[in-house]
Amino acid sequence: MDKPKIHLTDVTGRDGFQMEKEWIETEDKIHILNRIIGSGIKRIEATSFVSPKAIPQLKDAKEVVRELHRDHVEVMALVPNLKGAELALDSGVDVVNVVLSISETHNKKNVNKTVSESLENVTAIHHLVRDQYKKLNVSLGTTFGCPFEGLYHVEKVSTIISKLHSEGINQITLADTTGMANPTQISRFVETLTKQYPDIQFSLHLHNTRGMGLVNLYAGYHAGIRHFDAALGGIGGCPFAPGATGNVCLEDIVHMLDLMNIPNDPDMNKLIHTSKELERILGYKLSGQVMKAGLANEVVPV
Ligand code: COA
Ligand code: ZN
Repeated sequence: MDKPKIHLTDVTGRDGFQMEKEWIETEDKIHILNRIIGSGIKRIEATSFVSPKAIPQLKDAKEVVRELHRDHVEVMALVPNLKGAELALDSGVDVVNVVLSISETHNKKNVNKTVSESLENVTAIHHLVRDQYKKLNVSLGTTFGCPFEGLYHVEKVSTIISKLHSEGINQITLADTTGMANPTQISRFVETLTKQYPDIQFSLHLHNTRGMGLVNLYAGYHAGIRHFDAALGGIGGCPFAPGATGNVCLEDIVHMLDLMNIPNDPDMNKLIHTSKELERILGYKLSGQVMKAGLANEVVPV
């Protein structure tokens, strides 16, 4: 029997670029994102519509969205509030991704709101998005734990999801913002939440902060998750969480999935090529491993 397919969302343009201190030219951002789209990815989180004081790197959100090649890809953007959602929809995004954190401390630092204020925001944004026949995704930052508050039990997360579920929200991302989750915890969370909310499409957003990114992805897949976020070259992180580092690396995931015959969309070689281009643009060594080592099933000439 065929193995179930994995759907990957590329978050290089948002989670990846938001962590870069040096300004990346808008045309370079557009070039890289269009290359990623050209690799066959079906959903891309291209940018965020947030305060330019909070994330100066993404102040060109509108220009970036305008120049993307849109034929076979859904363009998503992260927003922290109603204003962000209005700007994102005006710019023509297909999916609005509202962020809020499970952690009160992180939510305050990240979006300057209490969790309950952020939940009220979600309701207002949901109505706006629905009226325009677009899609809404809610990303739950620090789902598995927060550097300021420690690791969480699934009950805490389920309480917040039940509020979103009662609003009719059906796409939720469980984000391990600072790479604190382990495979056992991932399995427990996924099994519990998918049983409690069978009509919600959950995705996993994993960071490789402590080297558990790929193994957490595999644990999530085994537990039934079919949608995952990833960033080219393993770049990224949240500037408002201490010690945050890169996302699980997109091309390293595809390399593993291809070897395991797990169906997925992007073309491996195109991604590696683009990751090397990104490395030249950013001007430092990226943490992606396959881009350095080469493919496991390619023989090196003697
Ligand atoms: N897009 C652009 N500008 C925005 C905005 C948005 N979505 N939301 C607010 N602003 C502007 C306001 O117009 C105001 O501008 P002004 O100072 O020129 O008048 C300024 O930002 C402050 O607005 P306010 O509503 O008081 O926000 P705040 O200072 O409480 O900050 C957020 C709240 C949510 C706007 C800010 O914390 C933020 O953008 N956070 C995003 C964090 C992030 O992206 N983290 C990484 C991803 S997880
Ligand atoms: Zn992230």
